[in-house]
Amino acid sequence: TGPGPLAGMQPAARPMPMERACPFSAPEEFRTLREEEPVTPVTFPDGAKGWLVSRYADVRAVLTDPRFGANRRLLRAGDPAQDGAPLPPPPPGMFIMMDPPEHTRFRRLLTGQFTVRRMQKLAPAIERIVAEHLDAMAAAEGPVDLLRVFALPIPSLVICELLGVPYADREQFQQNAGRLLRIDASQEEALQAHTAMNQHIHQLAVAKRAHPTDDILSGLVQSEQLTDEEVAGVGALLLLAGHETTANMIALGTMCLLRNPGQLAALRADPALMDGAIEELLRYLTIVQYGLRRVALEDVELGGQLIEAGATVVASLTSGNRDATHFSGDPDALDVSRPYSPHLAFGHGVHQCIGQQLARVEMKAALSALIERFPTLRLAVPADQVPMRDDMLIYGVHKLPVTW
Ligand code: HEM
Repeated sequence: TGPGPLAGMQPAARPMPMERACPFSAPEEFRTLREEEPVTPVTFPDGAKGWLVSRYADVRAVLTDPRFGANRRLLRAGDPAQDGAPLPPPPPGMFIMMDPPEHTRFRRLLTGQFTVRRMQKLAPAIERIVAEHLDAMAAAEGPVDLLRVFALPIPSLVICELLGVPYADREQFQQNAGRLLRIDASQEEALQAHTAMNQHIHQLAVAKRAHPTDDILSGLVQSEQLTDEEVAGVGALLLLAGHETTANMIALGTMCLLRNPGQLAALRADPALMDGAIEELLRYLTIVQYGLRRVALEDVELGGQLIEAGATVVASLTSGNRDATHFSGDPDALDVSRPYSPHLAFGHGVHQCIGQQLARVEMKAALSALIERFPTLRLAVPADQVPMRDDMLIYGVHKLPVTW
C-alpha cells in the first residue's frame, strides 16, 4: 500500500533508534509510520542502511517469511549490501541466527526441554526462591535496589539450576551479558564478551561429558547430537536469553505498575487478573525494544517497497504491539483487564521465544508475591531519576530504588 520505490518514490532514511518521549511510551514516530510509511528506510547507528517494518501484520509476515533469514552479524549487523562483505556463518550452536533446516536441528532438541508441563512443574521451586528473596528483602531496611536484590537473582538462579551452571559464576556471565547487549558496543567488544561466555560453558560441557548431572547441559551432551562447541553456543544463548530478559520484565513491570496505581489496585483486588496482566505488561513494555533483525535472502516486495536481496530489515515488535488495527481500546494505555490478543513480545514464527513459558511462570511468581508481600511498595526516588536502559538491546532499568 502507498507509493514507494516501486512507484518511483523513495522516502528519506530515518536514523535508528527512535527515541521515547517518556519511559513507557513507544517512540512517537511509530504511529505515523504505521499509518503512512509502514515499510520505511532507516539508517543504523553504525551508518548501515536498512528497512523498518512497523505494522503488526507486516511484522508477523516478515517473521514467518522464509525469504527473510535470521543470520546477521553478531548483534550489530552491518548491511552486506553496503560493504560487499558476505555474512560470516553464525557461531556454533547460536541457533537464534540460523535458518531452517539448520535451525530446526537445534530447536527440536530444545523444545523437549522447555515444555509447558516441565515449566509448570518448576513453579513451586520458583515460588520458594521468590519467597526467600522477599524474606531477605523484608529483613533489610528499605530503600533497596529491587533489580539487584530481587528481579535479577530470580531468573539467574532458575536458569543456572536448569542448565547446570554454578550460580557462583553469576558475576562473570552477568558482566558479559551486559557487555554484549550494549547498543554502542563495538563488534570487537561484543565478540569478546560472546567468546568469554562460550568458553565458560564449554568448560562446563566438557566436565558434564565426564560426569553428567540432571540438567539441560548434561542432557544436550548426552544426546550425542551436538559437538561440545555447539553445546557451549546453545548454553551461552540460553544463559544470556534466560536471565537478562525476565529480570528486566520483573523490574520494569514493577516500576510500570507503581506508575499506574489504578491498574496495580485492580490487580491487588483481583489476583485472578494476574495472567492477563503479565501478557499486557509483555505487550505494553516490549523489552526487545529495537526489534528483530532479518536479512532479505532474495528481492521481496513488502508494503509497496522493494526490499533488495541482502538488505537488513527490522521487524519492530514495539510498534507492532501498539498497532490499533490489532489491539482493541487504546494500545498506548496499560490495561490489565484487556481482552487477550496475541502479542509480539516473544517474537513470532520459527524463532518465537523458546523460554516463554518459563518467563511467564517466573514473572507471575515474582510479581504476585511482591505486590502481596509489600502493600506499601513505592519508588524511593522520583521516577525521572530511575536510570532507564535506552542504551541496551533489552529495555528495562539499570537500577530500581524502592522502599515500603
Ligand atoms: C527467542 C523475547 C525469555 C530463550 C526470543 C525472541 C524474542 C524473545 C523476541 C525471538 C528472537 C528472534 O526471532 O530473533 C523474550 C522475552 C523474555 C524471554 C521478552 C522474557 C520476558 C526467555 C527465557 C529463555 C529464552 C527465560 C530461556 C530460558 C530464548 C531462545 C530464543 C529466544 C533460546 C531463540 C529461539 C530460536 O531462535 O529458535 N525471545 N525471551 N527467552 N528466547 Fe526469549
